[in-house]
Formats: sequence, C-alpha cells, structure tokens
Amino acid sequence: MSSDTVLVSATEKHLVTITINRPDKLNALNREVLENLTKAFVELRARGDVRAVIVTGTGEKAFVAGADIGAMQKMTVPEAKALSDLGHHLGDVMEGSPFVILAAINGFALGGGCELAMACDLVYANEKARFGQPEVNLGVIPGFGGTQRLARRVGVGKARELVYTGDMIDAAEAHRIGLCEAVFPAAELLEKVRAVATKIATKGPVAIAQAKVAMRRGDALLPTANELEAQAFGLLFGTTDQKEGMAAFVEKRPASFAGK
Ligand code: COA
Repeated sequence: MSSDTVLVSATEKHLVTITINRPDKLNALNREVLENLTKAFVELRARGDVRAVIVTGTGEKAFVAGADIGAMQKMTVPEAKALSDLGHHLGDVMEGSPFVILAAINGFALGGGCELAMACDLVYANEKARFGQPEVNLGVIPGFGGTQRLARRVGVGKARELVYTGDMIDAAEAHRIGLCEAVFPAAELLEKVRAVATKIATKGPVAIAQAKVAMRRGDALLPTANELEAQAFGLLFGTTDQKEGMAAFVEKRPASFAGK
C-alpha cells in the first residue's frame, strides 16, 4: 500500500499512520503524492478494519509546505483546474471515509498542507508548527478547499485575514482560533495523537462513521463551494501574476505583481 512518497504503516490494531515523505521539498504535494494519498485512503477503507488514521510528515521541519510550486509554475488553466480537482477529490475521499483521520502537524502546514490538515477530522500540532494559506504571495488562491474549510473552522473574519494577507501563524495562535485542537511538545506529538486515536478506536465504529456522515451532510454546500474554488484557482493560471509569483519563489526573490 506504501509508495516512496506516501508511507503507510499499521501502528497497532485498527490504527494506521500515513507519512508524507518528500523531506527535501518539505513534503510538498505534487500530483503523485495527491494520487498516492487518495489511493491509500481508498485501500484503507476497503480493508474494513481501520478505525483511525494518523497523517503526518517526514522530518522535523514540515508536515506539508504546500502544493509543489515548481510543478505548478508552468501549468496551464486546465492543468491547474485538474490539480485543484485532484486535491478536492482527496479531501472528499478523506471526509467520506468511515474512520477518523487525525493530523499530526510536525512543522510547516502551509497552503495545501493546511488544507490537507483541515480535510482531517482532528488536527493536533507540536509547538514548532506553523500554519498559513500563503497562496496570494504566489498570485493564486488556496485550491484544495482552503477558501471553504478555513472559514468553517475559524470563522469568516479570521479566514479572510489569513487568506488575504498570506500570513503564517504559530501553533499557539492556531490553537487559539480553533485551527488545531491541541498543541503538544514535539517529542510527545505522535504519542499524544496515538492516544486520542486509540481511544476513538474503542468506540462503536458504526456510530463514529455515522457521526462523520451526519456532520458532513449538514454542510451540503461544501461540494459546490469547492467547485467554485477550483474554477477560480484554475483561471488564475491565465494571469501574469501567477507566473511572476511562482517564478519569484523558484528564483528566491520577492514577487512584483502587475495586477494582470
Ligand atoms: N513547493 C515546492 N518546493 C518547496 C515548497 C513548495 N511548496 N516549499 C518548500 N520547498 C522546497 C524549497 O524550494 C527548497 O528546495 P531547494 O532546497 O531545492 O531549494 C526546500 O523545499 C527547502 O525549503 P526552503 O525554502 O529552503 O526552507 P526555508 O526554511 O528557508 O523556508 C518555508 C521554509 C516553508 C517558509 C518556505 O519553503 C516556503 O515559503 N515554502 C512555500 C510555502 C507556500 O507558499 N506554500 C503554498 C504553495 S501553493
């Protein structure tokens, strides 16, 4: 079930850990990682005995530092829309899974990393974690559900502030605004998240699955809203601002936007 970029390991009975494994690129999400993650969740569901899944990143620096900017830099509008669709499909599969998914945020959770965390049921961070939706620095917007799930988690005002400024916030602030459930010392993060997962795994699995369904179906507008986001994300790849923003990141210089 594992691939080079997505490691799947059985932690204990009913419990699985998924580790995103591209440490040299701070675990950035490219097509391959998105596809491998989706495949892993689909296969875990088919197993039938999984009750909780922990998602984390390799290394001490990053959970996931976003979608892979190098891979996106030259994308056309349809290619960018397709990438956004892939990210949304992953989020749908995660939210539609009968087991509980817990994010263990071990460092940067930026852009697609923050969005991946928010597609999990529960988010736990270590003290070094940093959250943010920095896409506007690149001339684009969140494309894997951030414009929708962030407001649903932290309220519209804070979500606007984070999306419009691209600011990064630390773990304590993320906890304060409700973006993560708790913050633990780095050395204890996985152990603490496993304790929550193990507790959930002792509860009635059918009840947990139905709780997920009920909470998700109550938010009937999310799929439509996510489609609107994917269209807007794709269209931005027809702008010179996106080309400038991503070129500036790759060339390690500040971006200068013309507004076109
Ligand atoms: N996509 C592709 N590569 C990424 C990446 C991303 N989202 N985030 C980091 N990387 C790469 C860097 O390019 C660098 O690669 P290199 O060693 O080949 O040059 C490597 O990961 C290490 O990152 P670096 O920037 O050198 O680390 P840092 O400690 O100086 O900064 C961050 C860390 C997270 C602040 C910085 O990497 C960053 O801003 N990343 C982009 C965040 C972002 O905009 N995400 C949203 C994307 S839509």
